Amino acid sequence: MNTLMSDIKITKTKTTKIHDVDFDNLNFGRTFSDHMLVCDFKDGKWQSPEIVPYQAIVLDPSAKIFHYGQSVFEGLKAYKDTDDSVWLFRPLENFKRLNISAKRLAMPELPEEIFMDGLKALLKVDSEWIPKKEGSSLYIRPFIFASGNGFHASPADEYKFVIALAPSGAYFSGNVKVLIEETYSRSANGGVGFAKAGGNYAGQFYPTQLAVEKGYQQVIWTDDTNHEYIEEAGAMNIFIRINDTLITGPTSDRILDGITRKSIIDIAKAEGIPVEVRKITVTEVVNAAKDGSLKEMFGAGTAAVVSPISGFGYKGIDYDLPELKETYAAFIKKYITDIQTNKSEDPFGWRVKV
Ligand code: PLP
Ligand code: COI
Repeated sequence: MNTLMSDIKITKTKTTKIHDVDFDNLNFGRTFSDHMLVCDFKDGKWQSPEIVPYQAIVLDPSAKIFHYGQSVFEGLKAYKDTDDSVWLFRPLENFKRLNISAKRLAMPELPEEIFMDGLKALLKVDSEWIPKKEGSSLYIRPFIFASGNGFHASPADEYKFVIALAPSGAYFSGNVKVLIEETYSRSANGGVGFAKAGGNYAGQFYPTQLAVEKGYQQVIWTDDTNHEYIEEAGAMNIFIRINDTLITGPTSDRILDGITRKSIIDIAKAEGIPVEVRKITVTEVVNAAKDGSLKEMFGAGTAAVVSPISGFGYKGIDYDLPELKETYAAFIKKYITDIQTNKSEDPFGWRVKV
């Protein structure tokens, strides 16, 4: 397959929705741009991608996505700088991870050209939808799902790859209070936790609802064996600062290999922040909270960027984090968003111009 941007068929909408959008007050992922990219997998191969007006997708009731949940997705963002140039942040990492996820769910892997050229072509068509306001960006949601039919519990023979775009503001408003999970798990050894599979998120909703009822916004996932180790924070990787050292768990079968996470590790190393990638127990965090050495906890992910955690609950006790004047979270958030939005040098070569 050798798809070039110029080969992608584009059908433009006759009626833009852009004038109905209040770009100063965007929620996260609730407003969608005028167009989307679609590409079908059938007869054993990916067909030509097309850009079409944003629209509903019609499926047979027996489509396997409804029954067996073959669905994987990605999340990345496009940013517009002061000169109206458009930038992506490490998009090839999203492409590679989409295929890692697809493979785990026995779905066909996508050629790089369809992802990269398709995305760039779509962003050109909908470039007016990329917010310029600080803290806002165009959230990009590429996904693949089983559109093929049949109740047989086996992989579908047809799939759809779609890219949809949502001009978005912040994912969370304010700091986040979290509950360390003692009962439920989001993933297990040998499972699909490392994949961005739709079902992983469905499985998180119920335990998160229970946490919300108790006054927390997110769950801190712990290992499925003994709930002893800290793993992720909702749909984010987690960083914990004890004294001056930043700690995050190693990736595994159970943890998503986050692009923000690995960027933060590189930034910390480059900036002389002591950083350790190692297992961290709930006991260590609770003890650090008790003796005052726990300085910060924050979630890291594309949607939420860097989200400071203000406190956590564990075994019925709430622990507050100190309010520091200068935090690693604020430093790292600025560092990474300055690179993303072309406000600073990009020593790592992460930024990609569209
Ligand atoms: N962990 C989970 C479960 C996620 O859904 C995400 C979001 O993508 C992340 C971590 C962060 O990954 P990334 O930084 O690549 O967005
Ligand atoms: C992201 O950070 O891009 C995610 O995918 C999180 C999400 C489930 C909103």
